[in-house]
Amino acid sequence: MRRAILVIPTYNEAGNIERLIPLIFQKAKLIQNWEIHVLVVDSKSPDKTGDIVRKLIPKYPRLRLLMVEKEGLGKAYTQGFLYAIENLSPYLVFEIDADLSHDPKQIPNFLRQIEKGADIVIGSRYIKGGSIPREWALYRKIFSIVGNLVVRLGFMQLYISDWTGGYRAIKTWVIKNALNHIKNYSGYVFQIALLDYAIKGGANIKEIPIQFADRKIGKSKINSTQFIINIFTYIFLHSSFIKFAVVGLIGFFVDFGISYVFIEKLKSTVWVGTLISTEIAIISNFLLNNFWSFYYKKLENKFRSYLPNFIKFNIVSSGSILIQTIGIQLAVNFLGRDLWYVYKILIIAFIIIPYSYFLYNRFIWKEK
Ligand code: GDD
Ligand code: MN
Repeated sequence: MRRAILVIPTYNEAGNIERLIPLIFQKAKLIQNWEIHVLVVDSKSPDKTGDIVRKLIPKYPRLRLLMVEKEGLGKAYTQGFLYAIENLSPYLVFEIDADLSHDPKQIPNFLRQIEKGADIVIGSRYIKGGSIPREWALYRKIFSIVGNLVVRLGFMQLYISDWTGGYRAIKTWVIKNALNHIKNYSGYVFQIALLDYAIKGGANIKEIPIQFADRKIGKSKINSTQFIINIFTYIFLHSSFIKFAVVGLIGFFVDFGISYVFIEKLKSTVWVGTLISTEIAIISNFLLNNFWSFYYKKLENKFRSYLPNFIKFNIVSSGSILIQTIGIQLAVNFLGRDLWYVYKILIIAFIIIPYSYFLYNRFIWKEK
């Protein structure tokens, strides 16, 4: 029988945890093929959540309690995962909130997707059938929806709709790989860090709809301002899409700088200066993308993998130059030349960036 450990982080959830645990074990009895365990990770809650769990242990032999310091949600989960892996040999772990926002009735639906081959199953509030609480204040709804949209666009991983949600089933190998990475993220942003790392490691992700219920007892521990700052910082430092855009910008300056040196200082002919500077910018873009933007799928360290890909890169780059040249001339012909720089920016933003990002991912830095 495969073993699944539900890891439940708690901080002041006394009223909730004593209702949730019986619900989980009731449901677990009905699940075949899986042995369900529960590990509560309590940050020394002053409201004695820990004592309540301790009193339930004799009744539920598959219930465990781990006491940790109050160092945030991410830290609690990381410690819980580590404890589960070292002591309980799980096939997979669940993340689930203690405050009954996540319905234990959904557990079999997560397991079904794992049985079908998913490595991570995300309970999503933003796909068809999923929802956020109707009673949430407008600002909270906006915060949640916009927050997720920012992450989606920032990573350009549009197929995942819920990046921050905390109801998930995750295979142990994914957690083991990610432990070293996620231990750096102590707050709620660890959810994004874990998913990002798993995707880069090739995990197969599946979403199922969940209806997130508002908590009835106690209050949320989330610090929205801190969360937003952490999300932006994380995306900025880890999104291959943003890195790719930064590389493009660097390429622009390299190109410009070298043309200037050749044409103005060395008095070379304009076309020679342009040819050299463009090719140097293409080479620097290629290397920066390979070792930085797409480092997790970088090319094999062999000449025969570099050469064909470098040629493809040159072709894609020549395509960009062609699209820009023709596009801007057409725009100027139809709309007049006063605003040529606006057209240039629009062409880069809406055609060149998507065009090259798509082709790089499709033909050069392919998913492993
Ligand atoms: N041990 C421990 N230590 N548990 C914590 C801590 C901590 O420092 N902070 C929060 N928790 C526990 C809570 O007791 C609860 O069981 C769970 O983590 C979620 O915390 P809530 O305070 O209820 O957060 P929320 O409802 O605002 O956040 C939910 O939605 C977020 C995305 O919008 C959660 O599902 C988050 O995981 C999710 O990121
Ligand atoms: Mn909650």
